[in-house]
Amino acid sequence: MALTLIIAECGLELIPKEIRDHPSVKKNIRSKNYSSQLLDNALHHSAMVKLNNFEKRGRPDILHNCLLNALGSPLNKNKQLKIYFHTVNNRIFELNPEIRITRNYNRFKGLIAKLLIDGKIEFEKSYLIKELKENLRELIKIIKKKEVLLFSSRGGLIQHHLDIFQKDTSKNYIIIIGGFQKGTFSKETLELSNRIISISQYSLDAWIVVGKIISFYEIINDIK
Ligand SMILES: C[S@@+](CC[C@H](N)C(=O)[O-])C[C@H]1O[C@@H](n2cnc3c(N)ncnc32)[C@H](O)[C@@H]1O
Repeated sequence: MALTLIIAECGLELIPKEIRDHPSVKKNIRSKNYSSQLLDNALHHSAMVKLNNFEKRGRPDILHNCLLNALGSPLNKNKQLKIYFHTVNNRIFELNPEIRITRNYNRFKGLIAKLLIDGKIEFEKSYLIKELKENLRELIKIIKKKEVLLFSSRGGLIQHHLDIFQKDTSKNYIIIIGGFQKGTFSKETLELSNRIISISQYSLDAWIVVGKIISFYEIINDIK
């Protein structure tokens, strides 16, 4: 059985029309350069403050770090990790576990901008990343014999970290971790799980939580 990781509500989107004329956007955007089309808080902060919900938007770096952590784990090398990411605009993407994500952030941004435009990234006729038509609830419904765990600093603080998972090979665990910097999960995301777990007295970066949770699962299942 595999562990399914959903990185939810990631701040990934193309630069929205309403701020395309802002000087901080015009300065960086190039029509032939995919990476410059992606909203990035580090470049567009002064324009973004006008946008609704701006604190959860324009953070492709969070997903990049989460993916580098997850894809490099022994669990993934063992082919027991399935990864999806979901955006603040409710688009969902599935990763081919064999994918090697570029370490270079600018190239990663280019890849994501192309993905948001084309809906898929392919290589030699097989998919590397593809968009799904299901919403999060429908995606979770398809997975059988599951337990959905949602991680949040506002959840119940766990007493023993190795109690998060049971060593039960018949169970499919789905873990949801927020791919955003500030704020909280939407009501729709919170309703996907009845186990909301905090692993620390601190609010941690998403990629730290991804690394830790995968490690806890590896320890319980003796994956080295
Ligand atoms: C930077 S936090 C988002 C901000 C939010 N204030 C928070 O801490 O939940 C990114 C994600 O990391 C996970 N996370 C952060 N701190 C956590 C904690 N103490 N326990 C469990 N998950 C945590 C959550 O999934 C969260 O959505």
